Amino acid sequence: MPDYMFLLESRLLPEQRAALLRVQELSAALGYNVYLTGGTVRDLITGASLRDLDFTVEGNPSKIARELEKGGAKVLHEDEKFRHVEILFAGDCEGSIAAARDDHYIRPGTKPELRWSTIMEDLRRRDFSLNAIAISLNPASRGLLLDPTNGLSDVERAEVRALTIHSFTNQPVRLLRVLRFAARMGFKLEQRTQEWFDLAIERDLQHTITEEDAGAELHSLAREENPAAILKLWEEHDLLETVHALLAKKHPDYDAINRLSKVRDDLFMSGLRPRLATPMMLAILGRLKDNEVKSVLHKLGFRAAEVETITEFDEETTAAAKELSGKKMAAPIDAYRFLEKLPADQIAYLLAFSSNSGAVSKIRAYLNKWRPLRQGIPAISNELAAIGMPAGPKFDAIVQQVFAMQLTGRGKTPEEREKILRKLSGIKEQPKPKEPKGKEKKGSKPAATKASLAAAGKVALPAKSVAPAKPHKKAPPPKAPAKKKKK
Ligand code: CTP
Repeated sequence: MPDYMFLLESRLLPEQRAALLRVQELSAALGYNVYLTGGTVRDLITGASLRDLDFTVEGNPSKIARELEKGGAKVLHEDEKFRHVEILFAGDCEGSIAAARDDHYIRPGTKPELRWSTIMEDLRRRDFSLNAIAISLNPASRGLLLDPTNGLSDVERAEVRALTIHSFTNQPVRLLRVLRFAARMGFKLEQRTQEWFDLAIERDLQHTITEEDAGAELHSLAREENPAAILKLWEEHDLLETVHALLAKKHPDYDAINRLSKVRDDLFMSGLRPRLATPMMLAILGRLKDNEVKSVLHKLGFRAAEVETITEFDEETTAAAKELSGKKMAAPIDAYRFLEKLPADQIAYLLAFSSNSGAVSKIRAYLNKWRPLRQGIPAISNELAAIGMPAGPKFDAIVQQVFAMQLTGRGKTPEEREKILRKLSGIKEQPKPKEPKGKEKKGSKPAATKASLAAAGKVALPAKSVAPAKPHKKAPPPKAPAKKKKK
């Protein structure tokens, strides 16, 4: 049996690991059993990237959320009825904490009665076997895999399997979900699930999907890596109209979706991981007029703040582009600082759709030249230390000045940089000691080479051999040595 804890820990980002440990600690302190569930376990098992951390607790998650907030986490949404908290953990990683529950249906298709339950009951009430697997985070069983419906074997067979014959009747939105998971993972529907799916469509159950459920699906769709594949599958099955008639009529803007997906891939290569839910929603609804977008989102139960974020995104991003291409950003260092703070989803949106060529070319320079140059800042610090500059605010300011110069194409070679560093710090090169003729040892290196090797971290330069800081040419002659003697 694979070691799931090892698998998990090796795949988590440092901030995700910290969040996991904190939730584990808090649950233990409150006496709650806690499990990783749903999407997190599915992504872990299938080797997909772990987008978020979904926890299920046998207890009330709001107590955990309150403690997490004290440590810098942000609660994005809290549903008290379902005891479900969507959260941005400290370190900017997304996730959720939900209470284990059972949905009890008196008759298939009726409104379920909610019952707080154990993890096993919670897993069995879920939609598909691949979503019904949990990993224990409890001290006595940490890493234990709970798979009461044999989801692992369905994952191996690359099949989405519904857990009961009533799965679609109980929650018709699962008709959209089953296709979303199949398209996302490249899985097919398990044979009986396919039969149940066809039967549900024959009975027209898709038209009973509530607006709120359809909205939740659209919300999840915008967070998908390949929404175009899912939308095509929904369209093929005439299910898009169940999300919204106008979207079905005008069709999703596939061109915009694909452009944004391509930009995401390029940004990954540059080390940025944008969350594209907002611009992707705009791309999906790209053929609708502004007022139509607003009314679709409201109708589908999006919260007012979400609607505002989505509908104002274009204006906000266009304003950012204007600022970026304006006179105040003429110096690359100013544009660099501006872009460092600009949210990555706005960067992605501008790259995909902006006609502001000035702003786009600065973003390209930022990604392809300036950000890689930033990796060289530690080397500049080493070089500055090697010529004898003591640490302190002036030291840091010089490093930043040299970095700013590098953005304009200066200081590319170590020699060029040494000249700049000496000029900015006022530290002159030590005159080379005159060696008596013929006494120079074979293989001994000139001082400058030693300094540059030290800067490159190849040799350790003893403190004594570092040239003391000397003031700039224009400064008055130094008095410091005399003071030192007095001490
Ligand atoms: N679920 C369900 N029926 C639904 C919606 C959700 O059974 N109509 C269950 C699923 O088992 C799912 C869990 O609730 O794993 C959490 O739902 P959600 O957050 O929507 O999905 P995730 O599985 O986390 O998938 P995603 O990657 O899309 O977030």
